[in-house]
Amino acid sequence: MSHSDHTSPLEARKSAALSGTARVPGDKSISHRALILGALAVGETRISGLLEGEDVLNTAKAMRALGAQVERTGDCAWRVHGVGVAGFAEPAAPLDFGNSGTGCRLAMGAVAGSPISATFDGDASLRSRPMRRIVDPLEQMGARVTQSAEGGRLPLTLAGARDPLPITYRTPVPSAQIKSAVLLAGLSAPGITTVIEAEASRDHTELMLQHFGATVVTVPEGAHGRKISLTGQPELRGAPVVVPADPSSAAFPMVAALIVPGSDVMLTEVMTNPLRTGLITTLREMGGAIEQSETRGDSGEPMARFRIRGSQLRGVEVPPERAPSMIDEYLVLAVAAAFAEGTTVMRGLHELRVKESDRLEATAAMLRVNGVRVEISGDDLIVEGRGHVPGGGLVATHMDHRIAMSALVMGLAADKPVKVDDTAFIATSFPDFVPMMRRLGGEFA
Ligand code: S3P
Repeated sequence: MSHSDHTSPLEARKSAALSGTARVPGDKSISHRALILGALAVGETRISGLLEGEDVLNTAKAMRALGAQVERTGDCAWRVHGVGVAGFAEPAAPLDFGNSGTGCRLAMGAVAGSPISATFDGDASLRSRPMRRIVDPLEQMGARVTQSAEGGRLPLTLAGARDPLPITYRTPVPSAQIKSAVLLAGLSAPGITTVIEAEASRDHTELMLQHFGATVVTVPEGAHGRKISLTGQPELRGAPVVVPADPSSAAFPMVAALIVPGSDVMLTEVMTNPLRTGLITTLREMGGAIEQSETRGDSGEPMARFRIRGSQLRGVEVPPERAPSMIDEYLVLAVAAAFAEGTTVMRGLHELRVKESDRLEATAAMLRVNGVRVEISGDDLIVEGRGHVPGGGLVATHMDHRIAMSALVMGLAADKPVKVDDTAFIATSFPDFVPMMRRLGGEFA
């Protein structure tokens, strides 16, 4: 998918109090996994609430190219007929994952356990991101990279293992994508595949594997880690999946409601898996008025309704061990920190350097160009909050949806408008972002 020929700039302006109720789209992580596990299962998987953003639609296309039947049956309603574990067919053309690291890396794991060869590709952002971290354990399991760009990057051709080996793998960085790739490859290995992580990362793959009938045992490891063991060659059976609203997308209206004075916004059915709620914990520590009610669960994932009211925030220190539970939320947290009184220190952010863009540099640049004092010190980001943001800057999005949305949220409360150079990438994860924010009272031009 190419966005390069049609950039669409947009400006966000200081808005009156935001109000109303909204449901942000389905969780991106769960949507990718529902399609991939549905494709690897025997029988039918019905998915409701699927995120119909470009990233997930690319995964749907890839699963089709690998032999699964994937069809849209209604608004965010999809049906997948799977091929069974190790049952993928060799795709006729390269699989294009566009902007999505998650779709690409999880599919690599699934392909590594099938006796086929497939070429993985993506846009310029995805082509620049590291893939060795995924390929290393997959090669230990018997898969081989037969071709790749320099540094093991995309485009990359992976030959799956005919007889995959179960391994025990200690992830070098806390990453749900690495963990998930190993577990998905481990589905076709005999015996137990184990992943050990020093800090627990999101566990949607484990929960959904269990929901589809696999045996997965998780035990604590050290102070913050986990050891996850999957019994290979299960009979994966298709199962219904209800996708809750994405907390990483909810983060944008949530922070907007906190920083626009007088706001009162309700967000419904937001997923509250504790490995995803680091931002909510942090915003509450900053003094954010965030009330939670109607907690319930579906397909193994909890969800709740949130009421968020405009709040005077104060600076806090965010510990490094919280990073995996809010890894995609630091950009918008930095925006909240800029409107707070006092300094916010966010520690241990090295993984931000290898996301859709170098988010550590991009966050600092986004704030600086709008008059906020910010410093990067090693892996830490330090934001000097002064209770208001001058604004007036033009923010470079670097093909990164979350930079675009964070900058626009900032503009809703800044003294002068904030402009982004390109909103096109917002469609990868939250196609309805601007209309939804307008309905809550946000002003864009
Ligand atoms: C994701 C894992 C995270 C996150 C990404 C989604 C997932 O990446 O940044 O947006 O669905 O597994 P890492 O596993 O590389 O930290």
